[in-house]
Amino acid sequence: MRDFLVVSTLGREGLEAVLGYASADLPPILAGKGVALVFEKPSLRTRSSSEMAAVALGAHPLYITDAEVGIDKRESAEDIAKVLAGYHSAIAARVFDHRVLERMAGSLREAGSAVPVINLLSDRSHPCQAVADLLTIEQRFGELRGVEIAYLGDSNNVALSLAEAATLAGAKVRVASPEGYGFDAGTRETLAGMGEVTFGEDPLQAVRGAQVVYTDTWTSMGQESEAAARRSIFGPRFQVNAALMAKAADDAIFMHCLPAHRGEEVTDEVMDSSASVVYQQAANRMPAFKGVLYWAVTG
Ligand code: CP
Ligand code: NVA
Repeated sequence: MRDFLVVSTLGREGLEAVLGYASADLPPILAGKGVALVFEKPSLRTRSSSEMAAVALGAHPLYITDAEVGIDKRESAEDIAKVLAGYHSAIAARVFDHRVLERMAGSLREAGSAVPVINLLSDRSHPCQAVADLLTIEQRFGELRGVEIAYLGDSNNVALSLAEAATLAGAKVRVASPEGYGFDAGTRETLAGMGEVTFGEDPLQAVRGAQVVYTDTWTSMGQESEAAARRSIFGPRFQVNAALMAKAADDAIFMHCLPAHRGEEVTDEVMDSSASVVYQQAANRMPAFKGVLYWAVTG
């Protein structure tokens, strides 16, 4: 059993193993077992891909909303985790506060349970997304080592998991965020210790020659009250449009975890261009979760 709350816990070997499982024909090791999928926030891709990946491994996925279980309202995160562990072989959850996942995992380890906890997105990280991102980049370029990846926009959960996964895999990452929206000093230091990564505030500089141009929403779930302020801080400089894509490598691809806000962080022209791999990237969430689940339960 292994928890999957952040990408960095995988290490290089773990990441390779998960990517390998994601591309493999896996046996239905969870036949007759349950997988709990708990959501505190909405989802299109994560819910669908995790349900179908659980089915692919033979499991019965159970979708549970916070409206039903009331994390830390109806009962504590710890009690929810320990109860779910009585019915399920894995617990995957999408939460606002990353510490809820840590508390769930901590309580299960303390209780001697072998049921892993998997992060389906928290305020801090989105590790299952990053596995799908690497799969997509590898499918396009045939390798990950040395691929130049520019991430533009908010240094958020998606950016952190992408940067962790890509540096671990030997890619070269350049992150550009507006002043005040970059990673904190401690996070930069940790990422720099994992591989080749730079941080700046100039989107043009980050994109120049890049093979992957990646962006995400300027306003993540839970930050809705900041949306107007963020639009004026990020736009128009951080918008990925055709002029910006033209500065990237000739064979550059455009990536976005989705949902996209067309006309804000990305234009229709780029989303619908031949450089855009966003739907392949979304589809890869399924094999990625299959790989993660297999890795987590086979420990
Ligand atoms: N990319 C992603 O996690 O999408 P959902 O929020 O729709 O699951
Ligand atoms: N950064 C976004 C990603 C959504 C998949 C959010 O947290 O809302």
